[in-house]
Amino acid sequence: MYFPQYRPRRLRQKENLRRMVRETYLQVDDLIFPLFVQPGQGVKEPISSMPGNYRFSIDELVKEVKDVQQLGIPAIILFGIPEKKDEVGSEAYAKDGIIQRAIKAIKDTVPDIIVITDVCLCEYTSHGHCGVIKNGKVDNDATLALLAKEAVSHAEAGADMVAPSDMMDGRVKAIREALDQAGFNHIPIMSYAVKYASAFYGPFREAAESAPQFGDRRSYQMDPPNAREAVREAELDVAEGADIIMVKPALPYLDIIYRVRKAVNRPIAAYNVSGEFAMLKAAIANGWLEEKRVVLEALTSIKRAGADLILTYFAKDVARWLSE
Ligand code: PBG
Repeated sequence: MYFPQYRPRRLRQKENLRRMVRETYLQVDDLIFPLFVQPGQGVKEPISSMPGNYRFSIDELVKEVKDVQQLGIPAIILFGIPEKKDEVGSEAYAKDGIIQRAIKAIKDTVPDIIVITDVCLCEYTSHGHCGVIKNGKVDNDATLALLAKEAVSHAEAGADMVAPSDMMDGRVKAIREALDQAGFNHIPIMSYAVKYASAFYGPFREAAESAPQFGDRRSYQMDPPNAREAVREAELDVAEGADIIMVKPALPYLDIIYRVRKAVNRPIAAYNVSGEFAMLKAAIANGWLEEKRVVLEALTSIKRAGADLILTYFAKDVARWLSE
C-alpha cells in the first residue's frame, strides 16, 4: 500500500501515539559512568576539556559515587592516575595502588554499585603505551602477564568486573585464566574488543595523563576504515571468554555497533568517548545545540544501532532527565 492510502504521518500525530510505536528506549539501567581517581586528599580538579568531569582523590571520589548511586546509575568504570610511573607500569598491579585503594573505599561505603575497572598499562607507564616496550616496540606477549596480574589485583581489591582496554592479542584468554586460577571465576570480563586508534580520545588522555610519549597506538588499536576486522576481533574475544563486548568510540562507529550486534550473541557495550562528549559540550556552551535533546538523541542512536550498555560522561545528566 502506498500514498494516498498509506500515510506514515498517521502514527506521529500525538505524543501518546508516538510512545505506542516507539522502537528504542534509553534507560538509566543502560548507563556506565567513567570516573578518574588520583592521589591526594580533598582533590576535585576540573578537567578543562570535559566540563562537569573531575579528577578526584579517593575521599572525594566516594562522595561522587554516592551521588551516582542515588541517581540510579548501576555502574561506574574507574581510571587511575598513579603517584609515579615506570617502564612496566608497576602501580597498575600494586596492592596499594590508586585503583586498588579506590575500589576498597567505594566498596566500604557504596557496596551495591557495580565497580568496573579499566585494565590497561598506559596510565601507569612512563612511555604512555598500553604494553611493555622491547626494542622500541610494544611487546604483545610480554604484556599479557602484567595485564593478568593487574586484573587479579583489581578483583582482589573488590572489583565486580574488569575491562581490558589495551588491545593486546590474547589478553582476554590470559586474564580469564588468571582470574579463574586466583579464585575469581565469578568476575566477568567486559572486553574493549573493538577499539579503534581514534583521535576522539584526546580529552581523556589529558585527563588521565596517558598520551604516548613516542609514536602512537596504531600498531595495536584498530585502523578506523576497517569494519570486517571488527567482527573478527569481537568473535575472537567471545572465544577467549569475554562476557560483554565493547565497541569504542561510539558515534562515529554506529555501523560497527550494528555489525557486531548481528555477529555475536553477547551483551554489547559502546563507549561514548571523551572527544564525542567534548564536541557536544562545546557546541552546547556556544548555544548552538540544545543540550538535553541533542544528548538524548545521540545516546538513543547508540542504542538503536544495537548497544545494550553505554559508557558515557553524560550519565548523571541523563539519569536526571530520564527521571523528570
Ligand atoms: C586506555 C583507554 C583510553 C580510553 C579508555 N581507556 C585511551 C586510549 O586508548 O588512548 C579513552 C576513553 C575516552 O576517550 O573517553 N586505557
